[in-house]
Formats: sequence, structure tokens, C-alpha cells
Amino acid sequence: RLAPLDTVRVAGRIGAEVRGVRLGADLPAAVFTAIRQALDQHKVLFFRGQHHLTDAAQQDFARLFGDVVPHPTVPSRDGTQVLELDSQHGGRANSWHTDVTFDVAYPKVSVLRSVVIPPHGGDTVWANTATAYADLPAPLKGLADTLWAVHGNDYDYAATRVKAADDEGLRRYREVFTSRIIEAEHPLVRVHPRTGERTLVAGHFVKRFIGHSSLDSANLLSIFQRHITRLENTVRWRWAEGDVAIWDNQATQHYAIDDYGDQHRVVRRVTVAGEAPVAVDG
Ligand code: SIN
Repeated sequence: RLAPLDTVRVAGRIGAEVRGVRLGADLPAAVFTAIRQALDQHKVLFFRGQHHLTDAAQQDFARLFGDVVPHPTVPSRDGTQVLELDSQHGGRANSWHTDVTFDVAYPKVSVLRSVVIPPHGGDTVWANTATAYADLPAPLKGLADTLWAVHGNDYDYAATRVKAADDEGLRRYREVFTSRIIEAEHPLVRVHPRTGERTLVAGHFVKRFIGHSSLDSANLLSIFQRHITRLENTVRWRWAEGDVAIWDNQATQHYAIDDYGDQHRVVRRVTVAGEAPVAVDG
């Protein structure tokens, strides 16, 4: 029998807070299995008060999900595979995306730990890409099932920035992020390897849909993104320092809200290796 997990749903269609668990590599197997199943169901899980975690402990915990992989271009923190997003160095992910979809086998799970959180602002929002697909009208499902997209890491970084596009921190971050140009082709609809659900693979790394003009690609992307990111399909988390969010990177997108101006915000992320998406026709 599985150990019961104290799980409180945060929003109607995605997201649950898990209480009474101290995250670490030494979690009892039954608790980890319950967390894994809760992640399949809720897509993103939140854990408060994980102040004991260091970079190394966060990474060791993430290894329970599989091999930990560094970001392909941004250097990890010393001696670890931990990616730091620091608002003072351009680390503001305020546009909708799934992590690293420009890689062929992009990460399956991300574990994000809050280190410095401003007194107000800096929430993160996640969207459920499985319910987004399930809710599409039949003709749009049919269209989505046939589409393939090119994803690339040289996306339009300035598109949703609050500050001017020539902001120095952003320019430097972009330089590192795109120090090597990486592209991958993915089906728009992926069969989830664990749950069998159909999920939409889109977000800000999509450059174009294969066989479609850039104008049609932009319009198509906006149709599907609108379904993914409608508020009813999202959960918003108000961070406190020491919180950890774990998300199924094969069934979600997320957006870090950049509403805290010059206040400092630092989060650290570990990602777990995924597998190349399987389309609906295999
Ligand atoms: C990310 O995009 O992985 C970071 C999200 C955040 O800063 O809250």
C-alpha cells in the first residue's frame, strides 16, 4: 500500500501543495512513489519550508526521478548541475514555455527551489497542456494531431520583457543562452510516456510549424497557446523562500511573472533527462 500523501489542491485543473514531507534523496520509496503519482495527476506540486536543501541536496533529490542534466548552454553552479535564475543577471523567464524544448529529448521533470523572493510579486504560473488538448474542439484536435514544429533557443527574448529590450542584463543572458544555437522538431501533440494523455508541445521556443509560412505559424501558435494559457487552465504560486515546485515538464508550461521591478529574486532549478516525444501516430 502506498503511504498516504497530505495533498491539497491549489487550483481546479492543475497544481497541489504537498504537506508534511521533507524533500531529500533519503525519502522512503513509498513516499517517493506517492509523489510520482501525485505529479502525474496534478502536474505541478508545491512543498513549503524546504530550507534544509542545499544545491547538492536539491540535485540528489531530483535524481530520484532519473538522470539529472545540465542546461545545454547556461553554465551550472560550481560543481553541480544546478541552474540559477537571478533577476539581477537577466534571469527572468516571463513568457510561456516548457523548459528546453529546443532539445530533442527535453527534460521530463524540473525541480525549482526559491532562494531569494521579493516581499511582493515574482509569482510563477503553470498551465496544464493535457487538459488544454482535451478541451480543444474536435476539428482543432484533428489539426493539432498533424502538426510538427521547429523549436529553437534563439527565440524573441525581448518580446515580453517589461524593461527595454536593450537592457544590459538581458543582453548578456541572451548571449550565454544562445552561445550555441540548438533546434529540434517535435509533434505538437505528444503522447505522455507515463499517463498516456495527449499533451500540447508549444511555448516560446516554437519558431514555426513545418510546412507552414511564418505568418500562418504565428497564428496557429497563438490559437494553441491561448487554449493552454487561459486562466481556468492554470495555477499561480505565491513563493516563500524555501519553497520547492516540482513540475511535469512533459505536461505543463510555465511563466515567471516579472512584476517586482528592481527587487531581487533568485531561484535554482534542476532538470531531469526526458525522452524524445512520441506523436499520436507513434
Ligand atoms: C523557469 O522558467 O524555469 C523559472 C521559473 C521561475 O523563475 O519561477
